[in-house]
Amino acid sequence: MSKIVTSFSEYQDAYKQSVENPEQFWSAIAEEFTWRRKWDKTLEWDFNKPEVKWFQGGKLNITENCLDRHLPERANQTAIIWEPNDPNDATVKLTYQELFDKVCQFANVLKNNGAKKGDRICIYMPMVPELAIAVLACARIGAVHSVVFAGFSSSSLAGRINDASCNIVLTSDGGFRGGKTIGLKSIVDEALEQCPSVEKSIVLQRTGEEVSMKEGRDVWWHDELAKASNNCPAEEMDAEDLLFILYTSGSTGKPKGMVHTCGGYMVYTNYTFRTAFQYKEQEIYWCTADVGWITGHSYIVYGPLSTGATTLMFEGVPSYPDMGRFWHVVEKHKVNIFYTAPTAIRALEKADLSFVNKYDLSSLRVLGTVGEPINEEAWHWYDEHIGKGNCPIIDTWWQTETGGFMISPIADVTKTKPAFATLPLPGIQPAVMDADGKELDGNGLEGRLCVKFPWPSMARTIYGDHERFKNTYFSTFPGKYFTGDGCKRDEDGYYRITGRVDDVIIVSGHNLGTAEIENAIDEHENVCETAVVGYPHDIKGSSIYAYVTCYHDPENDDTLRKEILDLVSRTIGPIAKPEKIQFVSGLPKTRSGKIMRRILRKIAEKDTSNLGDTSTLLDPGVVEDIMQGVL
Ligand code: PRX
Repeated sequence: MSKIVTSFSEYQDAYKQSVENPEQFWSAIAEEFTWRRKWDKTLEWDFNKPEVKWFQGGKLNITENCLDRHLPERANQTAIIWEPNDPNDATVKLTYQELFDKVCQFANVLKNNGAKKGDRICIYMPMVPELAIAVLACARIGAVHSVVFAGFSSSSLAGRINDASCNIVLTSDGGFRGGKTIGLKSIVDEALEQCPSVEKSIVLQRTGEEVSMKEGRDVWWHDELAKASNNCPAEEMDAEDLLFILYTSGSTGKPKGMVHTCGGYMVYTNYTFRTAFQYKEQEIYWCTADVGWITGHSYIVYGPLSTGATTLMFEGVPSYPDMGRFWHVVEKHKVNIFYTAPTAIRALEKADLSFVNKYDLSSLRVLGTVGEPINEEAWHWYDEHIGKGNCPIIDTWWQTETGGFMISPIADVTKTKPAFATLPLPGIQPAVMDADGKELDGNGLEGRLCVKFPWPSMARTIYGDHERFKNTYFSTFPGKYFTGDGCKRDEDGYYRITGRVDDVIIVSGHNLGTAEIENAIDEHENVCETAVVGYPHDIKGSSIYAYVTCYHDPENDDTLRKEILDLVSRTIGPIAKPEKIQFVSGLPKTRSGKIMRRILRKIAEKDTSNLGDTSTLLDPGVVEDIMQGVL
């Protein structure tokens, strides 16, 4: 493993080479992997179609790169450390050999239950080792995994299962999260009433709670394992065959099933994991995300395991049993690299420092953040109290769509700057665009962030809707991938991501589409119309503010609010619940009927001194009314 930059001048050389000769750059990196057959063509692309193909003709299986190839040297090295929700329960450690055996055995369970290459398999599970095993087992047999975060509701789950016509669902009886138990199987049961494509559900026992098992459809994980051998040769995949689908919210319409493929995704997640964190042999790496998000896919499972790293999976939450849990886990497992979200840092920062100071954090070498902009205060707290001023903070900017880190410091190589994602990694060519669609040259400027050249792990399409893929990402600025984010590029050429410029709201690091939440609220029989906006929140980054018009005045505002919250929870999931719901007589609309969200955003932010031009509104009076009732 040689191609990793370890100094700033090496970074500059690598970056230059990656721009001047991207194919040579990426093929040299790709050669370090196990391929069944080498590729014929490194890259073919056209952002107008859009079409991107990396390593065409190459044959591989990503699990041979995450497991088999490590066995000669690392059979007894720990691959996964699992820290359970309850600190009094036993930690589980799986060596590479054990993980390999378990993946192969579960791959046979999938096959015994009818799974074949190309099938879509939905995974709706808590953060237990079997979740990672299930993901890898799908990849082993060439089935496409579609992991759905286990906090989503039954109707969100059903929508995702149906969108990809999954034939198998992997789940558990329930899951533990802090002091709560969540009955996952009953959520799956409800979802499956609307999912005709599902033939089998394989159910892991985790909480031991009683669940109903449907004859002919539902089978127990442990019963199936008892019947399966652990010998399962890997399926040979084309570099551009689908590896997985992962849903992310858009500014309009239903969630988008982002499609990632085998070869480029493997090369890029591995390269960026090793580069940005400067992972060293034997280090313990902990990413606190859930495998249900892209961060978990790329930087709990595939990136670390393809590197031969030791990756820690945590089942619980940062506040259970108390606000010191993260730091306890760092001390207990002597974590060297710790990667989390700004929202968690802000929440922990509010707790007493004694929760931090009672633990030995001296094992830490690198800290990371992801998911939303990190404010300077949180950055400094993280640096001072967790890193003790000795650990670089890797603020990684990227997206579900990008598959891997895009703009990020490289630990101990890139000089960091609070709240800046700093510089593009090798292979990434950002472009900052002005409102007229012109690329801005030079430094000290601000605009919309695009990427103008393909990188290996970019999403290839939206499952079943290539037109939407084109419209969403490649039409705003023709010939470029548009990220949906705004950014600044300062005098040093450093990037600071300023947040979404579309109707996506990031709440505690989770993307939520305004349209999705509005549609859910509109389902209430007394709700006529809804407009949802984001507003700043100390801990969550952003929170949701819903303006709702009713057919008739509610008898009791609080009862209606509660009904709306329940409805959103049931339709999308608890993470999408609005923090504030204001009942209004009307929404500010243009003469053409478009809701002026800009005005609603300002009111929610309590920044009403300059509402801008309201003269184009159909009924300027509603703005006054809304301001009077603001919460
Ligand atoms: O707005 C950016 C924000 O999160 C969005 C992507 O969300 P998602 O697809 O859920 O992936 C999150 C994990 C990669 C981006 O468009 N975002 C992500 N990382 C950062 C960020 N904003 C600022 N700084 C970051 N480091």
